[in-house]
Amino acid sequence: MSAEIINGKLIAQEVRSALKTRAESLIERGMRPGLAVIIVGDDPASNIYVNYKVKACRKVCIHSEVHRFPSSVGQDEVLACIQDLNENPQIHGILVQLPLPAHFDSNKVTTSIAIEKDVDSFHLYNVGALVSGNAALLPCTPYGILVMLDKHGIQIEGQQAVIVGRSNIVGKPMSLMLLEKGATVTICTSKTKDLAAHTRNADILVVATGRPGLITADMVKAGATIIDVGINRLPNGKLAGDVDFESVKEKAGYITPVPGGVGPMTITMLLSNTIEATERTRAGS
Ligand code: GUN
Repeated sequence: MSAEIINGKLIAQEVRSALKTRAESLIERGMRPGLAVIIVGDDPASNIYVNYKVKACRKVCIHSEVHRFPSSVGQDEVLACIQDLNENPQIHGILVQLPLPAHFDSNKVTTSIAIEKDVDSFHLYNVGALVSGNAALLPCTPYGILVMLDKHGIQIEGQQAVIVGRSNIVGKPMSLMLLEKGATVTICTSKTKDLAAHTRNADILVVATGRPGLITADMVKAGATIIDVGINRLPNGKLAGDVDFESVKEKAGYITPVPGGVGPMTITMLLSNTIEATERTRAGS
């Protein structure tokens, strides 16, 4: 039987509609949520992501502003900009688009963002908070995946979860979040010896490696939930995930497509974190 498709685009629309209502309610009470995005250099992919973020903010009534720097800028100038934004009461969320140029210390930059405005949750304090089960704001991509699982009523507690990919943005935080929800978690990489032996055990398989078609039908358990975080541009110009969608969808229980799966949820959860951060400011003021 063919898997149920987890439609990230549809879930994102639903979540964004509820977020717009929350933003409007804050605006009525004199507090418009504000997000500041810092981008250094002219990486084309980063530019596209930042444009998506700005457009998405506009649609749910979040104020957004982009601070652009040439790749030759010194780190201190960017740190000074972050300091100003930390002190700006109109700004409730700050993010620095990654990757930064090689002469930057990314940890130093992300860790100069005020903890309560860290909507990417990349600040080392917030990474530690996640490890100890006390996160205030969750990293956007894994957070979006949890929302998708929840919307489909997919059980996490007691399940075998396998994550392929160990990035700081997806693999590591995803593992911690599933662990926190009671899954038994295995973290693999694309180089794991006999990867299929691990992935075949997974009730929930999350793949974030950037290797198109890495996961084939023989590597998944019948009825499993397959979450594909990969977005790869093929030589023919088409987008493809890390999972061989056509064959795996015939065996899985649930599967996310690429595009239209995890992608739309990442920006949605950034909007959610910005609104959450704004609501907390009110609660604390
Ligand atoms: N670069 C790729 N993904 C992300 C993300 O989620 N946040 C930021 N700040 N940069 C990224």
